[in-house]
Amino acid sequence: MTALLQVKDLAITYRTGGSIIPGRSRTFDAVKGVSFDIAAGQGLGLVGESGSGKTTVGRAILRLVKPSRGSIKFDGQEVTAFGSNTPLSFRRDVQVVFQDPRSSLNPRRTIRDTLAQVIKRHFDTPDDETQRRAAELLDKVQLPSYHLDRYPSELSGGQQQRVAIARALAPQPRLLVCDEPVSALDVSTQSQILNLLSDLRRDLNLAYLFISHDLAVVRQVSDFVVVMHRGAIVEQGPCETIYTEPQADYTKLLLSSVPALDAWKRRAGLNA
Ligand SMILES: Nc1ncnc2c1ncn2[C@@H]1O[C@H](COP(=O)(O)OP(=O)(O)O)[C@@H](O)[C@H]1O
Ligand SMILES: [Mg+2]
Repeated sequence: MTALLQVKDLAITYRTGGSIIPGRSRTFDAVKGVSFDIAAGQGLGLVGESGSGKTTVGRAILRLVKPSRGSIKFDGQEVTAFGSNTPLSFRRDVQVVFQDPRSSLNPRRTIRDTLAQVIKRHFDTPDDETQRRAAELLDKVQLPSYHLDRYPSELSGGQQQRVAIARALAPQPRLLVCDEPVSALDVSTQSQILNLLSDLRRDLNLAYLFISHDLAVVRQVSDFVVVMHRGAIVEQGPCETIYTEPQADYTKLLLSSVPALDAWKRRAGLNA
């Protein structure tokens, strides 16, 4: 079976400084030959400390940054060859959830309008059908329907992130790129959102690229873990193997720097 997403030898180089001091541009290799696959319905956790290149990998898959080398295949199609006209199917199939829902939601739009706009854009549904789907999406993220007529500022951080997830689900994607989706939330809200993401994955057969600096978080939503350090993969494997028998020294270091991994899991009511 071919994977839903196949990333092969991906490299991304940023050019820095050139616009500030002409002629002084430098290059920085943020991602240096990264390869991994994600199967349909699989949760893949991409971990590493800040600056290791995780977001850059996510941005390349979303076509927000151009790779300097390598291949990204989604459903067998070469994403790096799409050019300026991204196929409609890809624009639906791959969605993103960012770290900070406050800045990713439009403060002047009600939740209803935010969801309706995305539904309409992707499916051109009549108004009553659009409304029905908006209510259904809110239900999927376990928010009561009266939130539809609220503005983002009237919701808590966790509720805002649920809306951001509902908006990402609106085009009926097959892959969600989640970039530190719970890092701005307190611990108990984190575990609720992680549980929601796990439920959605099971119910909708969604695949995830779950990016986080936090191994405790990644463990709850991933079957497979890729560990990045300074733009390269140092280790990858099934989730439990990475946590119980880490091979790379860097992974061991990351694990030992999660001070309250077990305490956190106990508090969140998770299994070891
Ligand atoms: N637009 C950019 N221009 C230049 N350098 C960048 C840019 N974005 C990120 N970087 C650099 O690339 C490296 C990887 O960044 P990033 O992918 O955001 O890491 P992570 O998400 O793991 O924290 C960092 O050293 C960062 O400073
Ligand atoms: Mg990042």
